[in-house]
Formats: sequence, structure tokens, C-alpha cells
Amino acid sequence: MIGALFGLARPLIHKLDAETAHRMSIAALAAAPALRPAADPPTLATEAFGLRFANPIGLAAGFDKNAEAVDGALGLGFGFVEVGGVTPLPQPGNPRPRVFRLPEDEAVINRYGLNSEGMEAVAARLAARRRKGGIVGVNLGANKDSADRSADYATLARRLAPLADFLTVNVSSPNTPGLRDLQAESALDDLIARTLAARDEAAAAGKPTPVLIKIAPDLTMPELDGMVAVARKRGVDGIVVSNTTIARPDSLRGAARAETGGLSGKPLFEPSTRMLAETFLRVERQFPLIGVGGVDSAQTAFAKIRAGATLVQFYSAMVFKGPGLVGEVKRGLDGELRKAGLPRLTALVGRDAQAIARGETL
Ligand code: FNR
Repeated sequence: MIGALFGLARPLIHKLDAETAHRMSIAALAAAPALRPAADPPTLATEAFGLRFANPIGLAAGFDKNAEAVDGALGLGFGFVEVGGVTPLPQPGNPRPRVFRLPEDEAVINRYGLNSEGMEAVAARLAARRRKGGIVGVNLGANKDSADRSADYATLARRLAPLADFLTVNVSSPNTPGLRDLQAESALDDLIARTLAARDEAAAAGKPTPVLIKIAPDLTMPELDGMVAVARKRGVDGIVVSNTTIARPDSLRGAARAETGGLSGKPLFEPSTRMLAETFLRVERQFPLIGVGGVDSAQTAFAKIRAGATLVQFYSAMVFKGPGLVGEVKRGLDGELRKAGLPRLTALVGRDAQAIARGETL
């Protein structure tokens, strides 16, 4: 139903500039009567960082930056939603236009620059809906003008941990100058130590909120080694692979391909899935991974799982295929399992990581 409506409206939506269309979809989801998605088949149930997910498909960060449409998004059938990136203080982000569709490539380039209403606005919205349930993560980003960016993550963790099911430390957005330098081993070690301490402080005697790190698909292998070493040593709860890429593959045809920013969608699928497999091989199942980048079908979601993802997210494919994609991916995954005669998706996590890391199969 939702998919059919999107099909009708898409030509009109795509006549609008991309940011206006995005604002309208947030407003529509925020205003939509709470939908109750059909129960998920038990084959799709999974567990990660102490949470039980009815299905492994999540809405990626950046769609609902200010937690305005959490229940609308959960109502579409997502197993979890990651809101944010949120910064401690409100900030406007970069001047418009700052997001571009590349329809020929089924891709998006954005340079929003972490526009955020700030952590107090997001905290208030999360607190207001907390008892409604559903798994809601919060993506954390530093303020552009912050004198101590590492301290920003600790501030965010202290304030938002009690209101979130998990927190994602985003040190991989390409649109805040210098932010990705925080991925370097010594900077990351300090940042993660401070963030985890703040998270623990916020938990007091209760259960600490899981903390994940989100990485770029553009890391070199030695850089990835360093990241994973910090994550393992500090005992983070997971890694999200990956954010958008600053690379511009030769295959791009869209008129906006030379715009500055992070590229997402179909052209990101292969590099991000390979980075996911490389991460999986280094993590050795010490904690779970979230696979994100170019997922637009059950097949691509399944490939993320085979590469090592326990959970999968997408964003850009919603722009081209609409919200009906959530149900399509879930039905397709369930079908794949039945065909393979397997009781649960979890049995397949990382099965093809070696081959995918070698670039052999996707
Ligand atoms: C993003 N993404 C993102 N990631 C993040 O960690 N914090 C953020 O604030 C944002 N903001 C954002 C805005 C827009 C417009 C896009 C398209 C993307 C990255 C996103 O969560 C995801 O990692 C990538 O887009 C790759 O997934 P898809 O889009 O190819 O499914």
C-alpha cells in the first residue's frame, strides 16, 4: 500500500529539490497515524549487544536527524531506527543546496555538515516517546566549532545514553572538516575511553547503553587495523560499516557527480561491503557489526549478512524505491532462508567474509 502510493507520488516528489522532498517525507511520517506493521517471521529475529530485534533491517542515520519521526519510521516495519547525527549544541550545517540525487546511478551526494537541532531538542523528543518502545539508536557527532571534539562525544553520551538503546560514535562523516581524523588510532583511543566513561557514569548502577563506532569506507587497511584494535581493546559493543564515501567511481553518470560531499546508494554497495568483510575478519566475532551502504534489495541485504553483518541498515534506496522497500527486503530474506532450509539468518553471518574481502563474490 505504502509502496504503491510512493510509486504514484515519486515523479512529483523528485521534481522538488532533494532537501525539500526529504523535509516533506519527515513531516508525513511524523504526522502519520501510528501504523502497526505485521509481525515478522521468527526466521528474522536476531540478538545483538544485548537487544532482541524482531528483524535485522534498520533505518540508517541521517534520515531522521532530530528524532521527529521515530514512530512513523518504526511503523514502516524497520526492526530499529538510528536517529541523528546529533551535536551537543544546535548548528545549521552547510548552506543549501547540500544534498543531490543522482537518479542515473541510484545514488545521493550530501554535504549537510551535521545540521542538528542539538542534543536537548533530541533528548526531549526521545523522552516524550520512550515508553512506546521499539529499538532506537542515536548517532553522535561533534560540533564544527568545538574546541575539544572528543569531549563532545562524552557530553552527548552522558546526556543521551539514558534515552537510547544504543549510541553510535560517528567519526566518519566527510562533511565536517577534520572529523575523520578522529579515526586515527591514538585520537580514537582517547575519544572512546572518554565516551565509554561518560556512558558508564550515566548508567550509574543500571545496564550501560551499548556504544558503537561508525567508520568510513575509505580507510586504508592499516587504518582499519588501528580502529579495530582500539574497538577491541576498549570493549566497544559494535562497529557500523560504513558511512558515505568521498570516492567518485568512474561509473557515475548523474549530473551532480562532481558535487562535494559523501556519496551513498548503489555505487557504495561494493566498497562498503568489502570493508565490512575486512572488518569482520579482524573483529573475530568479539562483537557484532551493522552493515550499511547501497542496500536496495533482499539480495544486497543478504550479501551484507554473508559479509559479516548481524544487522543491516539503509537510507538512499528509500529515495528511489520508497518505504515499501522495508517489507520487500524482509520478505526476500525470509524466502532466501526457506530456500536454503535454514531456521535463522544468524547462521549465515560472515559465511562469505573471506571471499568477499578477496573481492571474489558478492
Ligand atoms: C547520511 N549518513 C549519515 N551517517 C551518520 O553517521 N550521521 C549522519 O548524520 C548522516 N547523515 C546522512 C545524511 C544523508 C542525506 C545521507 C544520504 C546519509 C550516512 C548513512 O547513515 C549511511 O551510512 C550511508 O548513506 C550509506 O547507506 P545508504 O544510503 O547507501 O543506504
